Amino acid sequence: MERYILSLDEGTTSARAIIFDRESNIHGIGQYEFPQHYPRPGWVEHNPEEIWEAQMRAIKTAIEHAKIEPNQIAAIGVTNQRETTIVWDKSGRPLYNAIVWQCRRTAEMVEEIKREYGNPIKEKTGLVPDAYFSASKLKWLLDNVPGLRKKAEKGEVLFGTVDTFLIYRLTGEHVTDYSNASRTMLFNIKKLDWDEELLELFDIPEEVLPEVRESSEVYGYTKKELLGAEIPVSGDAGDQQAALFGQAAFETGMVKATYGTGSFILANTGKMVRYSENLLTTIAWGLKGKVSYALEGSIFVTGAAVQWLRDGIKIIKNAAETEELATKLESNEGVYFVPAFVGLGAPYWDQFARGLIIGITRSTGREHLARATLEAIAYLTRDVIEEMEKLVGIKELRVDGGATSNDFLMQFQADILNRRVIRPVVKETTALGAAYLAGLAVDYWGGLDEIKSLWKVEKVFEPKMDEETRERLYRSWKEAVKRAMGWAKV
Ligand code: G3P
Repeated sequence: MERYILSLDEGTTSARAIIFDRESNIHGIGQYEFPQHYPRPGWVEHNPEEIWEAQMRAIKTAIEHAKIEPNQIAAIGVTNQRETTIVWDKSGRPLYNAIVWQCRRTAEMVEEIKREYGNPIKEKTGLVPDAYFSASKLKWLLDNVPGLRKKAEKGEVLFGTVDTFLIYRLTGEHVTDYSNASRTMLFNIKKLDWDEELLELFDIPEEVLPEVRESSEVYGYTKKELLGAEIPVSGDAGDQQAALFGQAAFETGMVKATYGTGSFILANTGKMVRYSENLLTTIAWGLKGKVSYALEGSIFVTGAAVQWLRDGIKIIKNAAETEELATKLESNEGVYFVPAFVGLGAPYWDQFARGLIIGITRSTGREHLARATLEAIAYLTRDVIEEMEKLVGIKELRVDGGATSNDFLMQFQADILNRRVIRPVVKETTALGAAYLAGLAVDYWGGLDEIKSLWKVEKVFEPKMDEETRERLYRSWKEAVKRAMGWAKV
């Protein structure tokens, strides 16, 4: 009987399930979007029940497509939108909507904490204090949901990121992995434990926290009534760390960029905890008794800016059209778009920056906006790579995610970075990474060498732009960013 690995990739806008075989071929995919809730400007929520429902439907669809029986699944790996904060009770019932990583409701709270406490947060957690991470979101829930804090103190509330919620529902175990824990701003990444001082600072009762485990080990078995089989759940990693793993970027200095709603660039730094003023230090994964670290540049809005062109101002019908429009122009003709819809993440960390389009003339049309959007994605990536380079040597960039099918963007990315951009055959790198982690735990794959041999190149984009043009474009971009910063405070 042929056996497979099922990977659950629970992202910001949709839940996916993918079935892989030993050679990393895909046999079945299920994907369902779930609603986004915006109760106030700048607030973003998900209903955990809607996430669960989409995830379960995706699993069933993937199994059907693959034409396999659940007992052919050797293991399940979970990967997830990170930081998004959920609280639930022991029966698995959510006690509030999930507060999504993009949500800005705690921006002021974090500003205050930053002023008072500042540096130790970076030292302990590797993170730049920001409303992005779970700590302030959890504090907000405990302070604002009637009765929640009391219940929590009695041990009746469980907190977790989306991986933890899904694993709890699947197996009844309250666990997370190092990579997800490192995004809460409550976890000490050197001591590898929840940090007492930070728990106190954010007023978080210890009882609510999940147990932190490696990214590849058996956490529990699926309840029989869910899929009709008891399948080991044995992989767990935040989606960006899973993508780094799926890109087989196991060595120090290997870098990947995932182009999704936002873009997330991670450089493996191995055993070394490297601190950068404007990047995050994060745990890549815990594997076989060892923890690997990474430097991360998190860019909040990239693909979401393309979505905005489509659904917001409706100047394109689909994302692919941006390529057609952008290539109608020889250059950007001086039009820049800084998509700082929710502030700016790495390397600027300005919670009060807002979106800006500049350089508009009478002849500016939708092709300029499309081009400026794609170019912005590439400039933002360079902003991060420039910071990373101060600490690690970077030769090339491995890419994945939806926007990598846009050849204009990939070529422009190579040009603006002046580095090779490499697109692998399997583009579902996030799901694949979680599958590898799950499979390694149950000896479905032999080890990292076997996984490395499965990673194959589809296309390499070589830099072609002359230096003068490259630097001129990038200088103007930096000027545009300056003008977008702090706007919400004006
Ligand atoms: O940190 C947030 C990130 O994990 C979200 O990823 O792919 O859902 O946009 P994605």
